[in-house]
Amino acid sequence: MSAIAILGCMWGDEAKAKIVDYLGDTADYVVRFQGGSNAGHTIVVEGKKYVFHAVPSGIMYPGTKCMIGCGMIIDPLGLVNEIRGLEASGLKFDERLFIDEKVGLVLPLHQELDAVNEERLASAKIGTTGRGIGPAYADMTARTGIRLGDLGHPAYLKQRIKELYDYHGQSLDSKALKEVMAQLDEAWQVLEKYCGSIETILSDAYLSGARIIFEGAQGTLLDRSWGSYPYVTSSNTIVDAVGIGSGFSSRLLDEVLGVFKSYVTRVGEGPFPTEIHGPLADQIRAQGNEFGSTTGRPRRIGHFDAVLGAYSARLNTLDGIALTLLDVLSGLEELKICVGYELNGKVLITPPAHPLELSKVEPQYVTLQGWEEDITGVRSKEALPANAQIYLEAVEDLLEVPVKVVSVGKERDQTFKIDM
Ligand code: IMP
Repeated sequence: MSAIAILGCMWGDEAKAKIVDYLGDTADYVVRFQGGSNAGHTIVVEGKKYVFHAVPSGIMYPGTKCMIGCGMIIDPLGLVNEIRGLEASGLKFDERLFIDEKVGLVLPLHQELDAVNEERLASAKIGTTGRGIGPAYADMTARTGIRLGDLGHPAYLKQRIKELYDYHGQSLDSKALKEVMAQLDEAWQVLEKYCGSIETILSDAYLSGARIIFEGAQGTLLDRSWGSYPYVTSSNTIVDAVGIGSGFSSRLLDEVLGVFKSYVTRVGEGPFPTEIHGPLADQIRAQGNEFGSTTGRPRRIGHFDAVLGAYSARLNTLDGIALTLLDVLSGLEELKICVGYELNGKVLITPPAHPLELSKVEPQYVTLQGWEEDITGVRSKEALPANAQIYLEAVEDLLEVPVKVVSVGKERDQTFKIDM
């Protein structure tokens, strides 16, 4: 039996799904426990691209069961469309998908509120994915939210929806209410058979020897408590969210694997100490195809930041690192890694929590030599160019965590393990 959490450790988009997919061939369960359709998890198998928003990426393996935990937030019709789209590409869901009845719902109202809030914030906007994630989580916290299980109780649901609109000071005439109810009923017709409680299934599975992967979404620096607040998502993304969002205590995890890109990216607004502008950023963006899989937005690019990396490693008690997109750095003459910040004449080795301070820090860099070779065909650490090995070891030393998986391309097989 084993339970492993695979977590994004920076601002999301670290290629977590690729690592879940790579390690997932022997998984009995893959479980999502936070986030929602703001995530865009991409897997490429034999040139075919699959994008997942709420469905765990373990659905790629026919023998793997997938779970959507109650720490997530789902758009019911969006999920139905996602299931239908994946079914059309040959993936099977029956007896394989389990959705916690306690999961909160994103309604069209939440997407409208997301857009209105962003407009209202004007120059201080967050740059959300526009999927209604923040408002839906806010309603769950305010206890005004609608949960998936409510769809099985229409009279109760109708009352809750009326109260929800009231709470937001939104009018809802009987025609509009009927429409919302009809949409939710359409979703329920598809989702009911997947809906139940996942907590006992998971603990029984673990005790009977199952291998379980917990698939994180977004990343530690987007965690609503520990990230670069207020430029964060509205869920907790660190390892402790596993227990809260699935019912499987994070105390039981056998391994925590943190996924880091070999450089840093960020979408949306907010401080980004090692951000690069100009031709180097454009080159990395083009080589790494750094455009959001949910929104298509160009991602901001930066040098590897070991200050934020070590912070993330600590918060998540990482046992290992999966270092992704190392191939993207091929051809760069020099590579910088940020090893400290200077702020008001003081050197910091942990990030300041305040956004005004984090946006003012001066990164202190070490510069390493790059490598020319194309490494997309490499399948062992020893076969990497010497400078790529030095870069990888610098990441390990600075974060004090061993690199256990390396990804050198989009395809499932462009990945290798180190002592794992
Ligand atoms: P929200 O989660 O849509 O509310 O967006 C809040 C912040 O998190 C914005 O900066 C988004 O760009 C960012 N974000 C949300 N989901 C992801 C993701 O899956 N990858 C990267 N950034 C994300």
